[in-house]
Amino acid sequence: MTSAKAVRVPPMPKGLPLVGHVLEFAKDPSGYLMQVSKSHGEVVNLKFGNRNMTVITRPDLIALVLRDYAKKFKKPYRGFPALKALIGNGLLSSDGDFWLRQRRLAQPAFHREKVRAYGETMRLYTLRALEKIPSKLDVFEFWNVLTLEIVAKTLFNAEIDGQGSRVGHALEEALQANRAQMGQPIPLPLSIPLPGHKRLKAAIAELDKITLEMIAKERANPSEYSLLAMMVAATDEDGSQMNDEQLRDEALTLLLAGHETTANTLSWAISLLLEHPNIMKAACEEARSMLGAEGCRLEDIAKLPLTKQIWQETLRLYPPAWSIGRTALEDVQLGEYFIPKGQNLMLSQYVTQRSAKYFDNPDSFKPERWVEGYEKSLPDYAYFPFSAGPRVCIGNVFAEMEGMILLSTVLSRIDFAKADDYTIEIYASLTMRPKHGVSVLAARRD
Ligand code: HEM
Repeated sequence: MTSAKAVRVPPMPKGLPLVGHVLEFAKDPSGYLMQVSKSHGEVVNLKFGNRNMTVITRPDLIALVLRDYAKKFKKPYRGFPALKALIGNGLLSSDGDFWLRQRRLAQPAFHREKVRAYGETMRLYTLRALEKIPSKLDVFEFWNVLTLEIVAKTLFNAEIDGQGSRVGHALEEALQANRAQMGQPIPLPLSIPLPGHKRLKAAIAELDKITLEMIAKERANPSEYSLLAMMVAATDEDGSQMNDEQLRDEALTLLLAGHETTANTLSWAISLLLEHPNIMKAACEEARSMLGAEGCRLEDIAKLPLTKQIWQETLRLYPPAWSIGRTALEDVQLGEYFIPKGQNLMLSQYVTQRSAKYFDNPDSFKPERWVEGYEKSLPDYAYFPFSAGPRVCIGNVFAEMEGMILLSTVLSRIDFAKADDYTIEIYASLTMRPKHGVSVLAARRD
């Protein structure tokens, strides 16, 4: 039965014939969503060519989509050929029983105790990276290489020293191709030989090579414990095992999801600190007074309240997973709105977490707002950088621990300043990253 409330139709901004809003969205995806939510409210209909999209930035409705009615939605990635070619049918993009089986398989590698065991690798790899940090660098690239090395070592027992920039380059191409497809009224198949598609295919071939090499090494010489070892050895009730293609999809998904998001957060954190010298000074003092020469050990994390607040506030302002897509598998009633089967939804952490309805001075960087109890005082799902519900980020504990260890260890050793070519601009594709990196001068204190 439909209630009287159920008849509201979300407003739709004026769009162009046929293409609707897709061109404006593609120019600046996060900025456009922010703009329409300010002008048209927390539930807005958009048209991307032949795709109907409802943008939802209201916490109670987000809770329904991600938590209460999670089973009524699926991931939308299959409609995007660039993303499909990149991450295939891995944990991030798969659905239903298949996803559940894979999630259960991966989960033990992310139990809190297991993640704590990765802390030493995080600390030691950071110290190793600091030994060769140059006096001028793109700190975005620095974090990307470091977090990639860490995820490869902790989850796959693989050393990828020296391959970081190859992966970075390939990922860059893939994100650009994805962004281009976000702007196409109907996403074009990769078989059309556009220059972007050719570059994407070459980039994916490069990523495949690195990933399949890791899998081959694991098969030839099984490691005692690693997530990759578990995935290679996992056997279904019928005796079947994952083939190389599925292993490749899972491994690549974890490599990509497990490093770039954390690297983005750390990059935004450095740029926010550079814009707020007093907070930078206080964060460096905290790290220097609490940590020894050996960087941040597990037991030190609790002694770094300001670093933790900086992490939380950075994730609020620049959530690397800045939007979440879903497609309705059936008709769904969301509060006073009716969502028909097949409708695409876009929820946006970036927009909700900067809403003046839920946050004072929403665009200001104020780590001090994250006092004990602050998060609990917020409406559920007003702050959801890791999503929530059954598809919550599997790596949330991993990411927070890594963020704390890497940021504090680096701040305990390095004084950062803006380089001459420092310039910050948002680039939103699958993730939200600083478009031109974060160009800095780094002075070692030792
Ligand atoms: C600051 C860092 C991170 C942020 C903000 C973040 C955010 C997210 C979000 C929002 C989702 C849900 C996406 C959706 O439902 O569409 C997600 C899923 C996922 N994340 Fe993360 N993530 C981070 C770090 C990590 C790390 C370190 C790993 C692994 C080591 C990881 C692995 C994954 C995987 C595999 C999924 C898919 C889970 C599933 O659907 O079962 N993430 N992440």
